Amino acid sequence: MKQASRLSQLKPSPIRAITDGTPPGAIALGLGEPTWDLPEPARRALLRNPGPCPYVPHAGLPELRKAVAAFHGATPDEVLITTGSQGALFALFQAWVRPGSKVLVPDPGFVAYPALARMADAEPVPYPLSADRFRLDAAALLKVLAATEEVSAVVLNLPSNPTGGGGDLAALKAVADACIARDVLLISDEVYRDLHFGTRCPSLREVTDRGVVTSSVSKGWGAPGLRVGWAVGDPAWLVPARTVHGYAVTGTATPAQWAALALIEHSDAVLAEARVAVGERWQALAAALKTHLGHDALPPDGTFYHFMALPPAAVADPVAFALKLRDEAKVVLIPGLAFGEGGRAHARLSFAATPEQLEEGVRRLAPYWPR
Ligand SMILES: Cc1ncc(COP(=O)(O)O)c(C=O)c1O
Repeated sequence: MKQASRLSQLKPSPIRAITDGTPPGAIALGLGEPTWDLPEPARRALLRNPGPCPYVPHAGLPELRKAVAAFHGATPDEVLITTGSQGALFALFQAWVRPGSKVLVPDPGFVAYPALARMADAEPVPYPLSADRFRLDAAALLKVLAATEEVSAVVLNLPSNPTGGGGDLAALKAVADACIARDVLLISDEVYRDLHFGTRCPSLREVTDRGVVTSSVSKGWGAPGLRVGWAVGDPAWLVPARTVHGYAVTGTATPAQWAALALIEHSDAVLAEARVAVGERWQALAAALKTHLGHDALPPDGTFYHFMALPPAAVADPVAFALKLRDEAKVVLIPGLAFGEGGRAHARLSFAATPEQLEEGVRRLAPYWPR
């Protein structure tokens, strides 16, 4: 058997190396998903039984497109409903990333971006984030853009997985202007935007309607298993992506779209409750970091990730250090190196876990972090 060559370009993710083989009793602080219950409006919507369970139009349930459009200050024809925001990213990359071209991705950044570029026979080109808190650094990104030929797409992620760093409106505008000038697809992955600690990161929609925003009900609305996401932007970008998405999956599960609609209709309450949940967890984590490690940690700009500096001795081989934490301390953290070389000196700790798990997890880590 000979698999397609595009797959041979995908490197095995160090995340798998850490999470596969997690010993019993380990505390999972590697998770990238909410741990609280599916909010009530979605549960009620899933219980409704309207008789038939039809296919819906490829672009998504019309009522859901309308609700997503209203949420983002767009029109329904600027919305494509997809299977998670991952489905939106896949479809956009397949539709617009030319073979042999380059895609600018944050380093450190979400592991799927370089993989999606490679699956489109393109090359991911990393751009650095700011040195202080891993925020969008427009000057650094624009320098990489200016030095790179044949760029077909640029990906932003505010606030960021894995760093929690955001960015300001001026930085977004500078990047958007440069991408428009070069006719490059600018994708702003805003899947964590509503999980913030007082100040929401700006949206690309505030500076232009010529890029594409991707998001989903997976993080803020607490429903990753529904697999409902979307792309919002100029229909000229979305129509080819809709063709790809249609051939890939026809459409997202109809009951899941009903449930997502219920969540978005109750956004004010659902998102406020999610912020309370992450706020409580952040407080528990910050208190545990202070008590057990002596760290004074600042909350991220958004997400449920704390990007934690590694002890200097662990930086040479962060994967070995994470495996040691997993097997000896029985705490699972993701080495920042899994998200790119720029994350080498850090580890991602997810505080989506319960406050009790966070307290116990950090207590177990303490012997490994010299004070
Ligand atoms: C930054 C980022 N973007 C996109 C996704 C994809 O999520 P979903 O397909 O559930 O919307 C994730 C999932 O962890 C993520 O962290």
